[in-house]
Amino acid sequence: MNTSRQPDYAVEVEGVSFSYGRLKALDNLSLHVPRGISFGLLGPNGAGKTTLIRLLVGLLDARQGSIKTLGQAPSGKTARLIGYMPQQYSLYSELSVIQNIDFFARIYEMHDRTQRAAHVEEVLRLVGLWERRKDGITKLSGGMKQRVSLACAIVHSPPLLFLDEPTVGLDPELRVSFWQHFANLNKRGVTIVISSHTMDDAAHCDRLAFIRNGGVIAEGTPAELRRAPGKPDASLEDAFLYYVRHGGSQ
Ligand SMILES: Nc1ncnc2c1ncn2[C@@H]1O[C@H](COP(=O)(O)OP(=O)(O)OP(=O)(O)O)[C@@H](O)[C@H]1O
Ligand SMILES: [Mg+2]
Repeated sequence: MNTSRQPDYAVEVEGVSFSYGRLKALDNLSLHVPRGISFGLLGPNGAGKTTLIRLLVGLLDARQGSIKTLGQAPSGKTARLIGYMPQQYSLYSELSVIQNIDFFARIYEMHDRTQRAAHVEEVLRLVGLWERRKDGITKLSGGMKQRVSLACAIVHSPPLLFLDEPTVGLDPELRVSFWQHFANLNKRGVTIVISSHTMDDAAHCDRLAFIRNGGVIAEGTPAELRRAPGKPDASLEDAFLYYVRHGGSQ
């Protein structure tokens, strides 16, 4: 990839609205994600997080507003630079763990067999499933499927990752190891946009956007957002409720 003229932001969303029929899921939403950080999308069920992620990966088209990922409008060309872990597993149950990951590596045009095998092994070890690589997907626990899903999203080493609730169903130890891995990816310059409901995930993010009713009601670092309610021990939950009651910061 040409690194000489990289835009400052990995993701730029300007005034995006999106409706499913008559239901307005996103309402004039704007958001900027700096490169190389973990950026959290937080908000209640139905807030619009998944819709936003689907627009960002190019699965949905925004009829209003503009979206840029890595400086370009989402297209086939940007798709290879993006990793996407959907909220619902999209694994092939008739394939084994390693076959699923290899399949995704092929989709992303990793044609060189030796190189592909090395990448597949690396991500399998990373998610702790090397020993289970020959198992069918149906034999795995929910958390293990989650780990295979993550492996599929990152096997082609994309510089931009969209992870829709990747830590749901993970035990605390795995959650810690996922976050260690995300921090390592950030160090390598990878930008991660992650949706979550847990304040534990939120605290790991470099920046957060609170999303509600299809719009961003506040955006900042976890520390900045926690300062808003004006009490020393405010949690991120307190901060979210504060912004709901007092209107957004944007
Ligand atoms: N395929 C769809 N068809 C119609 N409406 C949809 C569809 N997907 C989402 N919606 C609606 O759009 C709104 C935003 O949903 P979305 O899935 O983006 O929320 P979310 O923030 O990801 O929620 P959750 O935390 O539950 O995953 C909701 O009102 C939802 O009912
Ligand atoms: Mg969702």
